[in-house]
Amino acid sequence: MVSDLLHSFREVWAQLSGIGRAPDGGYLRFAWSPAEIELRDWFHAQAAARDMPVTSDGNGNLFATWGDGEPGGVLTGSHFDSVPHGGAYDGPLGIVSAFLAVDVLRSRGFQPVRAITVAAFAEEEGSRFGVACLGSRLLTGAIDPERAAALTDRDGLSLGDVLGVVPHGARPSFVARFDAYVELHVEQGRALGSPVGVASAIWPHGRWRFDVEGEGNHAGTTLMSDRRDPMLTYAFTVLAANKEARLRGGHATVGRVEVVPNATNAIPSGVRGWLDARAADDETLAAMVEALAKKATERAGRDGTAIRFTAESTTGEVRFDEGLAARLATLLGDVPVLPTGAGHDAGVLSAHLPTAMLFVRNPTGVSHAPAESATDDDCAAGVLALARVLEELSGRPLVDHDEGVARA
Ligand code: GLV
Ligand code: MN
Ligand code: MN
Repeated sequence: MVSDLLHSFREVWAQLSGIGRAPDGGYLRFAWSPAEIELRDWFHAQAAARDMPVTSDGNGNLFATWGDGEPGGVLTGSHFDSVPHGGAYDGPLGIVSAFLAVDVLRSRGFQPVRAITVAAFAEEEGSRFGVACLGSRLLTGAIDPERAAALTDRDGLSLGDVLGVVPHGARPSFVARFDAYVELHVEQGRALGSPVGVASAIWPHGRWRFDVEGEGNHAGTTLMSDRRDPMLTYAFTVLAANKEARLRGGHATVGRVEVVPNATNAIPSGVRGWLDARAADDETLAAMVEALAKKATERAGRDGTAIRFTAESTTGEVRFDEGLAARLATLLGDVPVLPTGAGHDAGVLSAHLPTAMLFVRNPTGVSHAPAESATDDDCAAGVLALARVLEELSGRPLVDHDEGVARA
């Protein structure tokens, strides 16, 4: 019954609401922080309560399985980690919905032909180590484990230090056990007018660090004409990024900056910024970043500074399995099929197995901010939709493992 489901959703959601919550209502749930570890403990408890054995892949990702005891079959889930002061729904909604969808199916007496595995992927936001979808990249071999182990957080701790080992890296035979991945996620813009939708594509996107070097000096005594002020080059770069994105219908954001020495009465010696750039296709994104780097370099020449761009995390355009998206949209009652500018582990996994995403309506379109929201009714509709999808896919496998052929 829908009212029972609403009740269960509210009950489970309330268990998470205090974990890693900052006074502004946003969340500080960085990968392997105490808050995120508490969420992992919660994952273990939820799995135990449902008799679902939990395994890890040696990359920080967790898997709880309902089925023959081995992870495999249909994979669903999302991530626990957040951006700094992020919303409650981005990530955890997919994991909570997955466990509740298992409950819905069990209450109907459903027995999966193929296992249903619930995943919690590590460091999806890349807020701690700078590379988005780090856990799913490691699992699928999209990043070298030694490179990942050497990534450092803002305190200078490396991933290797935090884990105590170099992550395992690619596990192709583990990935091959899954027929499909379906990630439920709150929609992160204002694009979805119905409670639930299906994703068609993810815009290509990436993060570039840019380092501007100048000359530190006295704010009161240095003639304006003598200055080599990196803040000017930085400011120009931010404005130019905005312009290049607007010209191409893309998105560009500089949401993080560090200034050395960060003193009111000193011209900085260096400014480091991080550009997040996205566009509808790979060519447009590449052209946008290239044009920006060219303009910023010219400007640095005029400012007497030097600027260097370094790609920290890039993800190409993702087109989800069209047949699967259409099948799920029909199954759910002709719900909308829409692209997104937000990145997801589903994008990484889609290169390896049939992958789909379900979106739950975001009434305000706000995300990556404390005000992110979704109504309880829409979240319950999301759980029912996911249950329907898991029922369909775990009863009728997409991949014939004997022939290794993906079915539409
Ligand atoms: C993750 O949510 C991203 O799109 O950066
Ligand atoms: Mn996010
Ligand atoms: Mn997310």
